[in-house]
Amino acid sequence: MKTGFIGAGNLARAITLGLLNKKILSPSEMICVSGSGKTAQALSDETGIGLANSRIELIKNSQTVVLAFKPQHLDTITSEESAAAEDRLIITVLAGRTLESHQAAFPTARNIVRVIPNTPSRIGKGVSAYCFQKAPNDQDRQQVETLLGALGACYEIQESKMHIVTAVSGCGPAVFFQFIDHIARAAEKRGLERELAIKLATETGIGSLELMKQTGQAPSELVDEVVSPNGVTHALLENLKTSDWSGILDTAIEAAVARSIELSQPNR
Ligand SMILES: NC(=O)c1ccc[n+]([C@@H]2O[C@H](COP(=O)([O-])OP(=O)(O)OC[C@H]3O[C@@H](n4cnc5c(N)ncnc54)[C@H](OP(=O)(O)O)[C@@H]3O)[C@@H](O)[C@H]2O)c1
Repeated sequence: MKTGFIGAGNLARAITLGLLNKKILSPSEMICVSGSGKTAQALSDETGIGLANSRIELIKNSQTVVLAFKPQHLDTITSEESAAAEDRLIITVLAGRTLESHQAAFPTARNIVRVIPNTPSRIGKGVSAYCFQKAPNDQDRQQVETLLGALGACYEIQESKMHIVTAVSGCGPAVFFQFIDHIARAAEKRGLERELAIKLATETGIGSLELMKQTGQAPSELVDEVVSPNGVTHALLENLKTSDWSGILDTAIEAAVARSIELSQPNR
């Protein structure tokens, strides 16, 4: 029995490449299917994993089924597909779709795991948060942790925390990318070459975050290490305070949480 991917786009590609690179599964242990068949064919050509002719064929041949299509496709699961998923472990990455809505689609599945991954998963540097529909057996827990471990770090959370996690780590990469972009633009405006500005800002970000991770120091403590009274960093941070950037981020996180809640409602 295989690990089967329904949906073979960006996220399925990130997971399969992670599993293959870390030699957790071999190509012959995975199979995929997609809507038009185009992305499944491309993923199979790139990785050597198997191709199923249909979703039902995939479910019948897989002990673990990873749902990696768009959230609205959950509503296209047929009663035949649902019945074929009896006793399967379902792992789902569909943004905003609750465990309850998955259970309605797959009522006889052995267990369902809802996961919020993020895009750095593509290079094994992602972070995922996950929750089980019911207490898992040891084998299922280990399998989920191994699979998500191929994408980077992973943390088990309660489903009620999924909206805030979506805002922090799901959307987070976009915040960091925009942050680098804004700093680079400001530097370019003042005469630094764009390419160099992006490199400086990027390496500063990587180094600072690695320092925080390796030392375990609190972010506020590390800020203090950079600032000297009336110095240059002091001037910069005082200006950010005047612009209330902590308030801006708080409001932005609130908007993301609200949108995530909205998307999880039926008939959104
Ligand atoms: N990308 C991220 O960073 C990220 C982060 C968190 C969660 N997610 C979630 O991950 C899921 C996939 O995202 P993605 O970025 O990988 O999307 P994507 O690249 O657009 O891939 C979507 C896949 O779904 C397939 N598909 C379309 N209709 C289908 C159907 N009726 N049955 C089966 N497969 C069908 C597509 O196949 P064809 O194109 O070949 O038809 C394609 O392989 C989404 O639910 C999203 O919410 C993504």
